[in-house]
Order: sequence, then C-alpha cells, then structure tokens
Amino acid sequence: MNIVKPTTKILQLKSSIFDSATAQGVSSQLSGELIEGLADGLRAVDAEVQVTTRDFSTAPVPYLDAAWLQALFTPAADRTQEQSEKVAYSDSLIAELQAADAVVIGVPMYNFAIPAMLKSWTDHVARAGVTFKYTDKGAVGLLGNKKVYLVASTGGRHVEGVTDFIRPYLRTLLGFIGLTDIDIIVADGLNMGEVPRAEGLQQAREQIRQALASAERRGELNGEIIGETIIQTGEAA
Ligand SMILES: Cc1cc2nc3c(=O)[nH]c(=O)nc-3n(C[C@H](O)[C@H](O)[C@H](O)COP(=O)(O)O)c2cc1C
Repeated sequence: MNIVKPTTKILQLKSSIFDSATAQGVSSQLSGELIEGLADGLRAVDAEVQVTTRDFSTAPVPYLDAAWLQALFTPAADRTQEQSEKVAYSDSLIAELQAADAVVIGVPMYNFAIPAMLKSWTDHVARAGVTFKYTDKGAVGLLGNKKVYLVASTGGRHVEGVTDFIRPYLRTLLGFIGLTDIDIIVADGLNMGEVPRAEGLQQAREQIRQALASAERRGELNGEIIGETIIQTGEAA
C-alpha cells in the first residue's frame, strides 16, 4: 500500500551580494542555519522537506521595466515569444511563493534599504488579481498565509531607531500580499568591531533558537515525512 505523506516546502530567498562558491553573506549563512533547524525538527518527526533556493547573487532578478509590464498586460494569445518568456519568469516566482509552506528571506541592509534584487523580486510577485486585489475596503492579500522568517543583517544598529527601515517595510509589503505571520531575526552591529559583531551574531542565533522553539510549540514541525529533497534553483528563468 502506498501511503502519501505531506511534504513541507520551504522557499529560501538569498539576497546578499556576497554569496559565491567560497563564501556566503551573513544573512544567507544564518538563513541556512534556520532552515537546517527547521529541517532537523521535521526529520525528527519523519517528515519530508523540500527547499527551493533563489540565490539572487548567481541568478539576478530582472527589473520590472516598461517592456515587462507591457508583456504582462498583453493577452496571452497576442504575446511575442519574448513577452511570453517574461511573463513565464514572473509566473515562476509567484508559483514558488504560492507553493511554499514557509518562506525564509535573507535580507542584508544596503544603503538603508533592502537589496535591489529583493526589491525587484517583490515587483514581480506583487501582482494585482493574483497575489493581492483592491476592494471597496482597501487592498486584500491573496496569498494563503504561510510562515515567513526574515533574517536581517546590518553593519550598524537600527532596530527601533529612525533608520529601522527594513522591518516595517517588509512587514507592510508582505502583509499587502497576505503574508502576515512573520518572525524577524536580526544580526546587527556587524561592522562595529569584533565584540559588537559577536554579540550581533549571538543575538541572531538566540532568535533563531526561539523561532524554532515556537514553531515546534505551534506544531509547525509536525508531519508524517519521508525524506528530504533539496532543489537549488540557479537559473534566472
Ligand atoms: C553596499 C553596501 C551597503 C551597506 N549599507 C549599509 C547600511 O546602510 N547600513 C548598515 O547598517 N549596514 C550597511 N552595510 C553593511 C551590511 O548590512 C552588513 O555587512 C551585512 O552583514 C551584510 O549582510 P550580508 O553579508 O548577508 O550581505 C552595507 C554593506 C554594503 C556592501
């Protein structure tokens, strides 16, 4: 008898520009530790985990420019080959997000903002009628709620200050498309010297530990799982 068991799908977005074959950005490294913790918890209950990774340092996300918008607004039957490819690319980013049970986003601060590639990703996935809609009561997010973990890394310290731009911005943006269940992990002070850096990393690892503990308490690490499949998505399309 074949028993079909559920798979927990994790979408990982790596937006550090430092990722390469030999080294990883801090946000990517910590995101990886969080995912390992989630996977360990799931394996412990004999669950299957599938991780899809979008690494923007090796697969840059094209900007949503005029030609791209034109492609999206052109009826499918009338699109050129190039326009169809553009739409298919955006659709694939949305499909990955829709399919995920949990999303882990590594987000460094670059010049007081999220990395341009991550902003570009949001431009592709925030699509009217698909991931949000406007009603007479305002905008409504259409993505079924799923757990989101933001793993932020910053050279300075910004939490609760006037430059705390990343956290409220991403909460607003993700909430707009329906993702409101967000845990935020912050490694900060990373460029302020050896001691602040060690403290920032320690703080982030403690927050990861707490996030995993609360995922376990909420039963998010439960499931009947059969193994692990890790997909590394390296291509831009
Ligand atoms: C281009 C660039 C701009 C940066 N801008 C800021 C900034 O505005 N504020 C800040 O606190 N740190 C800034 N930093 C430091 C990074 O946030 C910090 O090094 C962080 O650990 C990078 O994460 P990553 O290793 O995952 O890429 C900047 C780093 C770079 C490379």
